[in-house]
Amino acid sequence: MDIEFVRSHFIKHFDGTTGSVYASPGRINLIGEHTDYNGGFVFPGAVDKGMIAELKFNGTDKVRAYSIDLKDYVEFGLEEEDAPRTSWARYIFGVCREIIKRGYKIPGFNTAFAGDVPLGAGMSSSAALESTFAFALNDMLGLGIDKFELAKIGQATEHNYCGVNCGIMDQFASVFGKAGSLIRLDCRSLEYQYFPFKPEGYKLVLLDSVVKHELASSAYNKRRQSCEAAVAAIQKKHPHVEYLRDASMEMLKEAKADISDEDYMRAEYVIEEIQRVLDVCDALEKGDYETVGQKMYETHHGMSKLYEVSCEELDFLNDIAKECGVTGSRVMGGGFGGCTINLVKEDKYDNFINTAFARYKEKFGREPKMYNVVISDGSRKLC
Ligand code: GLA
Repeated sequence: MDIEFVRSHFIKHFDGTTGSVYASPGRINLIGEHTDYNGGFVFPGAVDKGMIAELKFNGTDKVRAYSIDLKDYVEFGLEEEDAPRTSWARYIFGVCREIIKRGYKIPGFNTAFAGDVPLGAGMSSSAALESTFAFALNDMLGLGIDKFELAKIGQATEHNYCGVNCGIMDQFASVFGKAGSLIRLDCRSLEYQYFPFKPEGYKLVLLDSVVKHELASSAYNKRRQSCEAAVAAIQKKHPHVEYLRDASMEMLKEAKADISDEDYMRAEYVIEEIQRVLDVCDALEKGDYETVGQKMYETHHGMSKLYEVSCEELDFLNDIAKECGVTGSRVMGGGFGGCTINLVKEDKYDNFINTAFARYKEKFGREPKMYNVVISDGSRKLC
């Protein structure tokens, strides 16, 4: 997928004219899952797969949008009541509405876009789409919105137009990505730090289970509610605790009687996971990839047994990684399907991939997909 591909469709659909072309990536996350909406740390990086969109103002008050991948065209106005029903168009509409809500005007525009972030793989194709349009409109209209606010516009789009009460990680990574670096973000203070990530002798590879959970967004929102319920119980004794980030395991234990067993397990996972991000950053600074990998396995265990966002297929891929001596492996992203992220020594790589493909096919009757990770730049103008 490249500029010329998107441009050729734009020209075809919009009377031979051309506009400006922008791109934003999907993301991986080395560690720190379901910690963002708990005020904790995340450790993502942008990838070399993303969305490309061409846009041109059209002199009307309507947006005319063409999804090249879905071969679907939708036209909508920009008042609240104009919300399109088509789900992909709601991301673009939502971004526009969130910019308008912040006091800016957006004229109608034509757009065609395409992407190569695998859908449902947990690599945030939706954040890539939101960031592309937020970045493009801000740039084309010279609005001067800062990068954090662009990420928040994408996040608010998910909350208010797409029904997912997500945290800030995906949109942040998409906007702030930098080639060759992971970014540790403190989701409470929004302080962030780039960590060059070039593990000598290792490969970072995603194995996509190709499983998509139908009710992923309602299950995701339910996890968030569990965390909020645990915080409310802890607050009775510790009023300063605003997020699980502010709580310790001792505080959680003290409040056990006021927390359901399920919510307790969720909170336990989150408190441990926030610490794991810091441990991984320390280990990385020492070049200690064994510890990084061990923490990844701990995350998988927590996501599977305490947070319960894994599934049979992902647990299976994780077990195979262990058997093949892979340094670290875990389910990545929100869960309920999608990918495992694997840190693999180069000399173990071929055997791992061959074994995983063969055994997965034997068990589930279909092959997983594989993506080698290239850590890349964030939102940008292409031409
Ligand atoms: C999804 C959400 C993120 C984050 C992850 C889990 O990708 O969009 O905000 O919560 O799940 O870490």
